Amino acid sequence: MKTVIFGGSGLIGSKLIKILNGQGHETVSASPSQGINAVTGEGLDNALIGADVVIDVMNSPSFEDIAVLSFFESSTNNLIAAATKANIKHYIALSVVGTERLQAGGYFKAKLLQENLIKASKLPYTILRATQFYEFMMGIAQASTDGETVRLSSATLQPVAAADVSKALADIAIENPKNDIVEVAGPEKIGLDKLIQKVLDTHSDKRKVITDDNAPYFGMLVIDDASLTPGLNPRIGQIRYADWLQQSVSLA
Ligand SMILES: NC(=O)c1ccc[n+]([C@@H]2O[C@H](COP(=O)([O-])OP(=O)(O)OC[C@H]3O[C@@H](n4cnc5c(N)ncnc54)[C@H](OP(=O)(O)O)[C@@H]3O)[C@@H](O)[C@H]2O)c1
Repeated sequence: MKTVIFGGSGLIGSKLIKILNGQGHETVSASPSQGINAVTGEGLDNALIGADVVIDVMNSPSFEDIAVLSFFESSTNNLIAAATKANIKHYIALSVVGTERLQAGGYFKAKLLQENLIKASKLPYTILRATQFYEFMMGIAQASTDGETVRLSSATLQPVAAADVSKALADIAIENPKNDIVEVAGPEKIGLDKLIQKVLDTHSDKRKVITDDNAPYFGMLVIDDASLTPGLNPRIGQIRYADWLQQSVSLA
């Protein structure tokens, strides 16, 4: 099986390529640094010659509302056109659990557009929606920091290790297309305030989390226990948050 991974140099893409290569599959890492650009279309047709599966794990270099919408619209339209021409047997893309509930944010408007373009194409597809990556927790802390405090809701999240998301994508790549959305989450539900205090404490970061259930997530909207958690029957990752935190410190 030949798989082309768009965003192959990224957090998820690099782990995914290691898993697929380890299983004996042929992979192509597609990203601008490899001369393949999904936004301009450069190198797309060549990259897809002889490919069976396309996996889109790209992310936008800018999260500004107009830029991010333009990124996901252009890259997805170009990728769908090239994949259709190349007769790709399975088109897989990574999105975010709760995307339709987060439409107050420009990033999630762009992700919903990406999903809808894929659904409207004639390609056999699977969209995997993941919850927040453990690797993203410091980013959440940064976005909610004011001096030495971080104001966050106690709403539950069910975050997941990037390694488990990559594993789920590798599994999906050898399964039949679902022509639907499937979800992946971590093994535990934990309050956002506790998640962030733990990552700060683990890295001896002096900031203190203040629990405030009216604090908007990324300044976007007030969340509750259902906002960012998956529905029925998500795939469940193996790696627990405490184990991942410990490992991230030993690697630092
Ligand atoms: N963060 C979370 O908690 C979370 C949760 C659920 C889902 N997701 C989704 O996960 C996906 C991947 O995230 P990530 O953290 O792995 O991303 P990342 O580490 O930021 O990597 C982004 C990748 O996209 C590539 N890229 C950027 N512009 C491109 C272009 N024009 N053409 C081709 N490739 C391009 C980059 O290539 P270069 O290295 O060459 O720039 C890089 O390989 C995103 O779609 C995101 O929505 C994230």
